[in-house]
Order: sequence, then C-alpha cells, then structure tokens
Amino acid sequence: MGTQKTYKATVPSNIAFLKYWGKKDQEFNWPFNDSLSMSLKDLVTITTATLSESSDFEFCFSGVIRSRSDQTAKKAFSHLDYLAKRFDLKKKLRIVSENSFPTACGIASSASGMGALTIAALAAWHGAASFKELEENGFDLETLIELARVGSGSACRSLMGGFVVWEAGSTANDQRVSQLYDERHWPLKDVVVILSQQPKPVASSKGHLGVATSPLFKPRLAGIPERKALMKEALKAKDISKLGLLIEQEALEMHSVMMTQDPPCDYFIPATSQFLGFIRYLRQNQGINSYFTLDAGPNVHLICEADSLDKLYKELERLDIVKDIISSSIGGGPKISCF
Ligand code: PMV
Repeated sequence: MGTQKTYKATVPSNIAFLKYWGKKDQEFNWPFNDSLSMSLKDLVTITTATLSESSDFEFCFSGVIRSRSDQTAKKAFSHLDYLAKRFDLKKKLRIVSENSFPTACGIASSASGMGALTIAALAAWHGAASFKELEENGFDLETLIELARVGSGSACRSLMGGFVVWEAGSTANDQRVSQLYDERHWPLKDVVVILSQQPKPVASSKGHLGVATSPLFKPRLAGIPERKALMKEALKAKDISKLGLLIEQEALEMHSVMMTQDPPCDYFIPATSQFLGFIRYLRQNQGINSYFTLDAGPNVHLICEADSLDKLYKELERLDIVKDIISSSIGGGPKISCF
C-alpha cells in the first residue's frame, strides 16, 4: 500500500451576503430561496483521501482519528456512505482533513468541509488528479456541485470562486450554481470577529427545519428577489455602502426569522448586539466603512475594502469582547492535486 497515491482537495469557505435559511426538501437540500456568497481564500479546508484495505472509512480531523459516533465526524461518514452507495464504490478510503482556521472558532466549516470531502473522495476513488480527469470519469463541475450540496447546502457555493449565486429553481433538480464575477472583479475583505468559541446551541441542519414556523418567514421570502437584484447592482457598481446596507438588512432579517421560529434558534449572545452597535458607531463617527453579516452563530463577519483594514483592526484590537480576529481576501475556486 506504500505506493498508493493520495488525492488532495483545497476548498474555500464562503460567506453569504444573501442567505440560505430553510429548505423545501431535506434529502436534496433544496432551498426556499436563492442565495449569493463570496468565496474566502484564507479560510479553507484541506482534505486528502487515499484508497485503503480497511473494512470501514477512516476519518482523521484536526489531527484526531474520529469514530462514527463522534459528533464532529457524523456528517462526514454519512456523506462518504452516501457517495459510496450512489456510485456503487466498494473500496474504503483513509481521509485526513484540516481547516486553515481554528476549528473551535465558530466559523461555519461545513461548506468548505463537505466540498473538500466530496472532491477528495471522488478523486481517490477514480484516480483523478485534476478536474479534467474527474470530468472524464463522469464528474463534471455541475455534478460535483450537486454532490457537495447534498452533504451541506452551502457547500455548493464553495465549488466556485469569486461571487457565487445559488438559484433554487422550480424543482429540486432545477437548482443552479453560477459565478457572477470572479475574484478579480472586486477585492473585498472579510474580517471574522470571534466573540464566542462555544459550540452553537442548535445545528443549522436542525434550524433550517423550523423556518416556516416564523411569522416573518413569508414576508422575508417575498422580499428576496428585490434584495437579490439590488445586491447584484451594488456588486456590479462596486458600491460598498450600497452593498453593505443590504447585507446588514439581510443578516438581521435572517436572524429575526431564526429568533421567531418555534422552537427559537437564538444565536445571538449579548456581545453580538453590543458589537453590531459598535460597528455602526465606527461608521458614523470614524468613517470606517465596514458592514456586518452573521451566519448561524454569534460571531460576526465584517465586509470591507482593503483601505479600511488598518483603522478597523486598531479599533477591534482594543475591544475586550473580541476573542480573536481572522481575516480573509476574496478567493478563487477549489483545487485538486495528487502525490
Ligand atoms: O449549509 P448549512 O446547512 O450549514 O446552512 C448554512 C446557512 C447559513 O450559513 C446560515 C447561511 C448561508 O447561506 O450560508
């Protein structure tokens, strides 16, 4: 087995400007609404896969070998089982996966994680050292996107770089992921501000299921097409204040839906509200043009242009509610290599 090749996938995380919250179909991760995101170059998952003679998959994450019952590994094992069953692949794999960012920091890692697992596993099963070779084996980008999406909805947006749109379509099979602009269009930054390193109270996979119980969900859906069109205009014009206000409204609206679900999904901690107020204060009083968005957690992503970074960092570093800061540039799509 010493000569067995190892296949490596490097996949960026993504931050949604227009959010995916709620699915019409669980099995296919078919969302209620379209979403739009930016790929994050410096927040990646690196996953390697090697064919093995073992009787089961082996999964090592963050330097620790995980069993099937390990909470952090359940999704990975079930995705490997799904791929093996769907494509009738008998061989087991040895998987080693790492995030480039601290795992306990509360940044959603399922997007980059499921994307990297899908690509690395299929590359190893088919001996494919490039996307071209994966395509020759029946796995073109569209198929990879669909498979990553089954692992975790937001993972489908991590299979392209730059600004990416995921359209819900009129049926589960009609979904489409496309690149709006590549990473050269507008070199935006994402400064991730960690306010809590605690695990989230409700997994997003559970939270999605309660969306229709919120009285705010229907009005939210009705407003999505207009917000999406306005975001596309702001991205085209590279207008940070226009985009920024839209992403803040969107994040607050998604969290309002979350908080009014039954049972509620309240991801805010007191420091979150305090911090959002501080960001608005910095904009109004110091002219620091950064805009917040949040995923399913208490930590905050600040979207800004490069010329705001120095001033922003200086302000953030003196806040004692800030536990850590991790920043990323906009990035390109996934990569495969083999050794
Ligand atoms: O892919 P999931 O099931 O982890 O859902 C992620 C949903 C949000 O991060 C809250 C929003 C989004 O569009 O990424």
